[in-house]
This record gives sequence, structure tokens and C-alpha cells, in this order.
Amino acid sequence: MRLADRVVIVTGGAAGMGLAFASRLLSEGAAIVIADIKDSEPALNALGHSDRTLGLRTDVSQVDSVRSMIKTVFERFGRIDVLINNAAIFATLEPRPFDEIDEQDWDQLMAVNVKGVWNCVREVAPVFRAQQSGRIINIASAVVGKGTALMLHYVASKGAVVAMTRALARELASIGVTVNAVAPGLILSDTVAANPAITAFQSSAVMQARSIKRDAYPEDVVGAVAFLASDDSAFMSGQTLIVDGGSVFSTL
Ligand SMILES: NC(=O)c1ccc[n+]([C@@H]2O[C@H](COP(=O)([O-])OP(=O)(O)OC[C@H]3O[C@@H](n4cnc5c(N)ncnc54)[C@H](O)[C@@H]3O)[C@@H](O)[C@H]2O)c1
Repeated sequence: MRLADRVVIVTGGAAGMGLAFASRLLSEGAAIVIADIKDSEPALNALGHSDRTLGLRTDVSQVDSVRSMIKTVFERFGRIDVLINNAAIFATLEPRPFDEIDEQDWDQLMAVNVKGVWNCVREVAPVFRAQQSGRIINIASAVVGKGTALMLHYVASKGAVVAMTRALARELASIGVTVNAVAPGLILSDTVAANPAITAFQSSAVMQARSIKRDAYPEDVVGAVAFLASDDSAFMSGQTLIVDGGSVFSTL
């Protein structure tokens, strides 16, 4: 129960990996808020309704929506301890050469994957400042290290998330906030598994590059997220933990 009495927001937690994070952190004692553009009722049914679960329909690309979500969470729980910036456009992507990506798709993906992180951080920051504590965990991706082809907007967005993690670590340390990222390799979340277009073109290259030659599932990533949410990571900030079965090695 490392996270007893902690209040955790998981953006995009209604399905896929975010739901797995929510489930693990709930089991470690946290209260969980799922902030997703999708209906979170099925996720809350899966987690079990209780006074430690809340679902709020939120569009992270819209600052007003994020502001209202943060206000509601604070009114309900009186504090916020962890923000997990997990919401992104990913599982619905169609692989495309860089010069065939539709400009509207590029802008929409950046609005969710990059601006969405900024929106959530700036709206939660006053709460963290008042508490003089908080943890931010950004879900990046190992595609940044691999330079994965055929999804340039997505790769660029996750590169931005890694860079923002470092810059925000420096800006927020003085108010007691750590900012770290987790960069998973290809993970067969339920939403990704449902889109063969996203897995088919990557699978053989992914497996070849992995040291640990097996498929990966959300349960393979939850431990890294729980660690970063807990006091066990108190002296870490600005770091990106790569969870990809030993494909991309971080440099010191
Ligand atoms: N599954 C993988 O292979 C993999 C690998 C590396 C990184 N990631 C990252 O992990 C995270 C979760 O991925 P996933 O596999 O569960 O994919 P996913 O696409 O199913 O998850 C994204 C979630 O974000 C929500 N969302 C989308 N737009 C939103 C918006 N505007 N506001 C709020 N919520 C919104 C979706 O409804 C969905 O529940 C994403 O950040 C993704 O980029 C996934």
C-alpha cells in the first residue's frame, strides 16, 4: 500500500495501458481519477466503484476541460498527488509515410499528445505549489530512441514529451514536484491489439530488436509507473525509464 491516501489522475485511463496503470495504483492504495475523452463507466465497472474511484469526461487538448476536471478532483478529494499524462492519439493511428500525413491529423495529434501534457501540468501546478509536493509521470515511447518509421507526427510528439519532462523537472523542483517519463516499447494493450495496422508493420522488427523475445502487455509497464508514483523515486527527476524488453539502451 505504497500509495495509501494519494490521489492520482490518469489521463486517457478509460482503456488500454492507462486502465492498467489505474488498476495497479488502486491496488497500492491510491484514489484514482480517470480523465478520458471516452466514457469511463466501463473502466470504473472493471476497477469496482468505490469512494476511491472517479471518472471525468475530459479532453486534454482543451484547457477549459482540463481546468474543470482539476477543480472537480480537488473539490472531491482535497488534494492531488500524482498526474499521469497518458492520454494520446496512438492506438487509432494508420501508418503513413511522412509526406502523406494529413495536416489536420498532424495538428490534432500534437494538440492531444503535446499540448495536452502542457494543459494538464499548468492546471495542476497551483495545487502542487500549494501542497509543495506532487509527481508528474509522462508516458513517452521507445519510438523516440528507435526513430520508428511511418508515424512521424507521433514520433515527434513523444520526442517533445521526453524533452518537456526534462525542462519541467527543472522548473518544478523548487515546488517539491518530480517529473519523470516512462517510454514503453510496443505493448499489446487491448486498444492496440484491436488495430492490426499498428502492430503488423512493427511486430517483426520489434521482436528482432528485443533482448527479451516475447510480446509485452500493460502489466509489463505498470511496475515502472507505480515506482515513479511512489516515494521510492523521490530523488529522481527529469528521467525517462525505457520499458521495452531491452531494445533501446539509455545513455549516461
Ligand atoms: N501500446 C503501446 O505500444 C505504446 C507504446 C509506447 C507508448 N504508448 C503510449 O501509452 C499511452 C497509452 O497507450 P495505449 O496503448 O493505451 O493506447 P490508446 O490509444 O488506447 O490510449 C490512449 C487513451 O487516451 C484517450 N484519449 C485520446 N484522446 C484524448 C483526449 N483528447 N483527451 C483525453 N483522453 C484522450 C483515449 O480515449 C484512450 O483511452 C499513450 O500515451 C501511448 O502513446 C503506447
